[in-house]
Amino acid sequence: MDTRQILRLLIVLSGLNGACDALFCNCTAPQCEKDGYKCETNGACVASTSVIKGQEQHVRLCIQKEDLVPPGQPFYCLSAEGLMNTHCCYSDYCNSIDLRLPTVTNGPGSGQDWGPVELTAVVVGPVFVLCVLVLLGLVLFQHHQRAYGHRQRLEVEDPSTEHMFLAKDKTLQDLIYDLSTSGSGSGLPLFVQRTVARTIVLQEIIGKGRFGEVWRGKWRGGDVAVKIFSSREERSWFREAEIYQTIMLRHENILGFIAADNKDNGTWTQLWLVSDYHENGSLFDYLNRYSVTIEGMIKLALSAASGLAHLHMEILGTQGKPGIAHRDLKSKNILVKKNCTCAIADLGLAVRHESVSDTIDIAPNQRVGTKRYMAPEVLEETINMRHFDSFKCADIYALGLVYWEIARRCNAGGIHEEYQLPYYDLVPSDPSIEEMRKVVCDQRLRPNIPNWWQSYEALRVMGKIMRECWYANGAARLTALRIKKTLSQLSVDEDMKI
Ligand SMILES: Nc1ncnc2c1ncn2[C@@H]1O[C@H](COP(=O)(O)OP(=O)(O)OP(=O)(O)O)[C@@H](O)[C@H]1O
Ligand SMILES: [Mg+2]
Repeated sequence: MDTRQILRLLIVLSGLNGACDALFCNCTAPQCEKDGYKCETNGACVASTSVIKGQEQHVRLCIQKEDLVPPGQPFYCLSAEGLMNTHCCYSDYCNSIDLRLPTVTNGPGSGQDWGPVELTAVVVGPVFVLCVLVLLGLVLFQHHQRAYGHRQRLEVEDPSTEHMFLAKDKTLQDLIYDLSTSGSGSGLPLFVQRTVARTIVLQEIIGKGRFGEVWRGKWRGGDVAVKIFSSREERSWFREAEIYQTIMLRHENILGFIAADNKDNGTWTQLWLVSDYHENGSLFDYLNRYSVTIEGMIKLALSAASGLAHLHMEILGTQGKPGIAHRDLKSKNILVKKNCTCAIADLGLAVRHESVSDTIDIAPNQRVGTKRYMAPEVLEETINMRHFDSFKCADIYALGLVYWEIARRCNAGGIHEEYQLPYYDLVPSDPSIEEMRKVVCDQRLRPNIPNWWQSYEALRVMGKIMRECWYANGAARLTALRIKKTLSQLSVDEDMKI
């Protein structure tokens, strides 16, 4: 760029500046009379025409730059239909033009002949439309969020994999194997659970408990157990399903959970919990029917301890499990598998330990479970519920009672006793808390350990374990892991093939 060009540019720029700073306009205001009806401004010239009371009025003025608000459409430059025509311009004396008179339209919408109804409509109408639009927006947003959440879930539980899980030739065992090797360690995907549950054919009722009925059902030729809760018991159903699906809970000595389903038949909701079926039924049923050998006793006791140790144990890591306390351990809630080992069942009252915050996952109530099996501190309500280990100690007390039920049925040396519930000789058949408390806490009585058990190593060890499960002081009791180790050693000493 040469000097001449630069000079020309400077002149143009200064000219522009000058035009901005000193714009001359026609002015009809009285104070402009002395300046010859002119004014000077840094903003705009404005001309406006109006009809007031039938009289034409032409106004010309200067508007200062700072009054030109909002930018682009200053209020001073707006016309008002039927009232005023306004024109702003930005060159010297540009407002000398004569504007047309504002046109008065008396048709609908002109606003001049509006009655209160029309005025209300004009005000309320747009507000109403705005509300509808906002509502519509909200509905669409929520729908989108839900669809998104659903999509997320489906991505996690991709139904296109359903054929993999539910291929015609798959048995339940295959299915469970698939999930234990490929799954998250917390159970079958929910859509598979639902499909399995809805293709089960119920066969016969096998038991009735506090929360509902237990049925034997058939799925692809195999047996399954179906616990059916009434709709009143939805919370129990939900809680039990939730606990069974705790990550990494699966263990050979814990009842194998298959599916949970809530089926609405129009009138009520059927709540199903599907699990492995064990034809021997509960340990209570089994001991009532059969006596056991020393080997059989150790096998039952060791497997029950293994199940409880796994339940109690916290496993750290992303694929870990929290510590869980059962809170309703008894011979009716332990099932006997075909190979005569135990599977701990009925996890509906269990509590989980959140070790990071050292809290328990639900607000635990003082006394749950079965009165006969309640530990002294539960009967007396002195249990420290903020301390998770107290619940484990209460489980150990109940395990000791279960061991007593088993050991009584041990036919060592040809002697064995008939089946009895713990405290059968001390409390009535359906004891109250008060009756249990008197015996267990006040009189500090425990089930009888016969002297002749001392003559058999296995029964002696079992008796010792029981005593150490029954201490009044929960913290002094054995742990499930300790019991498991003692019984493992006993099985070695007894030359058992386990
Ligand atoms: N998976 C299963 N396989 C075989 N039999 C089972 C199974 N689950 C439960 N049963 C049988 O059904 C019975 C009823 O079980 P349920 O858990 O509903 O009640 P309960 O344990 O007898 O009493 P409670 O309500 O106090 O726990 C059991 O005692 C057992 O005989
Ligand atoms: Mg039960």
